[in-house]
Parts: sequence; C-alpha cells; structure tokens
Amino acid sequence: MAYNLLKGKKGIIFGALDERSIAWKTALKCHEEGAELVLSNAPVALRMGEINKLASIVKAPVIAADVTNMDDLKKLFEDSLNHFGGSFDFILHSIGMSLNVRKGKNYTEIDYGFNQKSLDISAMSLHRILRTSWDLDALNEWGSVVALSYIAAQRVFPDYNEMADAKALLESVTRSFGYHYALKKKVRVNTISQSPTRTTAGSGVKGFDGFINYAEKMSPLGNASAEDCANYCVLMFSDLTRMITMQNLFHDGGFSTTGVTEAVINEMEK
Ligand SMILES: NC(=O)c1ccc[n+]([C@@H]2O[C@H](COP(=O)([O-])OP(=O)(O)OC[C@H]3O[C@@H](n4cnc5c(N)ncnc54)[C@H](O)[C@@H]3O)[C@@H](O)[C@H]2O)c1
Repeated sequence: MAYNLLKGKKGIIFGALDERSIAWKTALKCHEEGAELVLSNAPVALRMGEINKLASIVKAPVIAADVTNMDDLKKLFEDSLNHFGGSFDFILHSIGMSLNVRKGKNYTEIDYGFNQKSLDISAMSLHRILRTSWDLDALNEWGSVVALSYIAAQRVFPDYNEMADAKALLESVTRSFGYHYALKKKVRVNTISQSPTRTTAGSGVKGFDGFINYAEKMSPLGNASAEDCANYCVLMFSDLTRMITMQNLFHDGGFSTTGVTEAVINEMEK
C-alpha cells in the first residue's frame, strides 16, 4: 500500500546492484511513494546491466560514479541537478565493499593498502557525497541523507572483519557532517543499522548462513528484511521525520537490545 509519502520529492539512490540489493528495494518503494529518482552505481557494477531493469520500472536515469572519485561525483550531482531541474531532497548511500574480505585476509593480517580502499569506498564515500552536495548546494532545506550500517560498529562480530571499522567511521561521519549540514541547511543525516540480509555484499561475510540464522533467533521480531529496510528509508526521506538527525537507528527486530532469547537457550541445551 502506498501513502504518497514522497510525492514531489526527488533523490539519488546509490548502490542498486541486483534485485536483492537494499538500494534496489528502496528505489522501488520510493517510486511507489511518488518520488523521482536518479540511480547511480560504480562503472563496473553498471556493466552487469541489471540496473537497467530497475531504471525502466522506476523511470530513472542511470549515472555512473565511483564513489572514491570526486570528479565522478561532481558530474553525477551536476547531471542530477540538470535532470531534476534544480536541487533535490534525499540521498541513499547503500555502498559497501571490503577488499580484505574479498582477498580472504583475516582481521589480524589485513593488508593496509586494501584497508584504505575499503574505508574509502564504505565510509569516507559518505563524506565525499555530502561534500559534493554541500559544494554544489544540491539538497533542499530539510533534505534527508541515509546511509546503511551494521551493529558490528558497536560490538564484535569477528568475521565482519575490517567492515566493522568502516561502519564505525561511517557512523562518525554521519554525526560530524550531520552537525554542519543541520546548521547550514537543516539537512538531516542518519544511518540505519540493518539486520543481516541476503544480498551480494551480505553474503560476502564468512559463515553468513550461521550469522543470519543466529540473528534471526536473537531478534524477538526476527530479522528485518530488505523490504522492511526500504520502508524505513522511505520514512526517513519523508517529512514525518524532520527532527531526526545525526542518529544511528537500529532496524533489527530488537536484536541490539536483546541479551538472550529462549530460542538461543533451547539451542544451547541440545
Ligand atoms: N546485507 C547485509 O547483511 C547488510 C546488513 C547491514 C548493512 N548493510 C549495508 O547495506 C549497504 C548495501 O549493501 P547490500 O547488502 O544491499 O549489498 P549490495 O552488494 O547489493 O550493495 C553494495 C553496493 O555497493 C556498490 N559499490 C561498491 N563499490 C563501489 C564504488 N567504488 N562506487 C560506487 N558503488 C560501489 C556495489 O556496486 C553495490 O551496488 C552496504 O552499506 C552494506 O554494508 C548490509
């Protein structure tokens, strides 16, 4: 059911790779709720071609940008301003990549060159995006920026590896830039800390099946799905959440505040 929550709003969605992507589901929901969109992803991801299916459903142009490249970002924002005919209202940062995880390196033996790249793609990219928007004055007053995070920023999940540090940095950039953007233009910046979700990035975590099943058993409401997350993003882009900024918002079926559940105790007693 649609509520027209984003009627008249415009925004950029980063990170829709395929149908499982949280960004993909969010683009569909934003479209259903009346938003106009621009889709962006890294040139290498666009070569897969999947995103064109989404683009035709949500009637959005696809503009390539590697989020570690300021020239790409400037061009994306300039093209988006042209496409929308002026400034816009929201941005979804749904981007993550760990080179050390990809190369099979454990946390205690990471390669620092890979590490720099992982932090740049997964965390400082939010700063780069906000900075580009700031410099071009691309967001309207009361605009909303959401980035996706994970609870490994606060607690240890050993196989989440360097992405734990990336998410901690992402959440810190959210607070720090959020402060300045609130003062400058009443733009709000938040992270949503999502349950484990079966996507390309999610499944890259070692032992993902055990990980997601454990979270399911440890969450009184069960794991939040990608669609649930998309709904939450819509709410955060809407005018119903205007005074929320600089927050890390847990969206995890209760996982983050649960000590133990009967389901887990039952497993331990077997
Ligand atoms: N899946 C999970 O379990 C889970 C849980 C919590 C948070 N998240 C976060 O949600 C976000 C979206 O991930 P997802 O699970 O939908 O997986 P996904 O693999 O579908 O999305 C990750 C996206 O990042 C993009 N990307 C990577 N490098 C890039 C670059 N240099 N420039 C531009 N884009 C680049 C990829 O092309 C891809 O579209 C990520 O930040 C992820 O960490 C995921």
